Amino acid sequence: MEQKILLSQLASDTLKGLSANPKFLLSKYFYDDEGSLIFQDIMHMPEYYLTDCESKIFSEQTSKLCLALHHKTDFFNLVELGSGDGLKTKILLKHLLEKDIKFQYTPVDISAIANQQLMESLKAELPALQVEAKTGDYFTKLKSLNGHASIPKTILFLGSNIGNFSEEETIEFIGQLAAYSNVGDKVLLGFDLKKSPKIIMDAYNDPHGHTRRFNLNHLIRLNRELDADFDIRKFEHHTTYNPQTGDVKSFLISNIEQIVRLGALEKSFRLKKWEAIFMERSRKYDLQTVEKLAANSGFKVAQNFTDGRNYFMDSLWQKIT
Ligand code: AVI
Repeated sequence: MEQKILLSQLASDTLKGLSANPKFLLSKYFYDDEGSLIFQDIMHMPEYYLTDCESKIFSEQTSKLCLALHHKTDFFNLVELGSGDGLKTKILLKHLLEKDIKFQYTPVDISAIANQQLMESLKAELPALQVEAKTGDYFTKLKSLNGHASIPKTILFLGSNIGNFSEEETIEFIGQLAAYSNVGDKVLLGFDLKKSPKIIMDAYNDPHGHTRRFNLNHLIRLNRELDADFDIRKFEHHTTYNPQTGDVKSFLISNIEQIVRLGALEKSFRLKKWEAIFMERSRKYDLQTVEKLAANSGFKVAQNFTDGRNYFMDSLWQKIT
């Protein structure tokens, strides 16, 4: 049942994107099983600095970070949106437990398998942890947590996932965080910062071809799940970085005039030679923009944590209105 609903959402989003001018596909569909494996390859390559930087922030500033994000009450809820394998968060969880701070960890993920694996590893590695995983949509789950207004919470949204949202989606997302937070609640958001375009381009146009495979895998997914007939040899991967907006944009460009058919939808689409499909946005931020985002939604920036090179920033906000 669940698969049928997801499939029809993929179908309608794909239909919308390929009918639009200019064409686009949604990057949230990168993450089928194969796409998730390719993303692991991306995270392990030396050019993709983001994961390393955030891990360093967590491991080198653990006690400062834990002190800032916990609530000086008896008990608080540490909620993580898009928890995945929880690798970085475990550094914080371990420290909070060692300091005998009373809290519950609530990982929220769309993937039931990811949640199950995370629960198993937490049970083995941190048996004293009070944890309740939730599977499903972030905001439905946050809404249910807000019923316990007397328990303060800190919400984590790490890894520059916010960078994959459009401008409107970012404002909407932070608005929802604000709506489901009470005065005093905190959020910790991971932002990738503006830096030399060369470093950014190497991360998103990598010499190993992982990012190219990551993008092309989206088309392979459509071939499998929507009975499409994309020939990936007829597409070139291209990445741009705009240092003014901070937007990294990824495209697949048709290197030939072609017609692509989506069998499951009984629809065909014409692609002109060199026509581009917009695949993903990965926004890079500056401090002023982050501060403005916080202030516009009733938060104040309580503390920023950056790595030694100032490549990445985890920004801790507190709800003030
Ligand atoms: C998941 N997200 C934060 C990654 C990013 O850096 O925007 C996805 C990614 N796309 C290409 N490389 C990595």
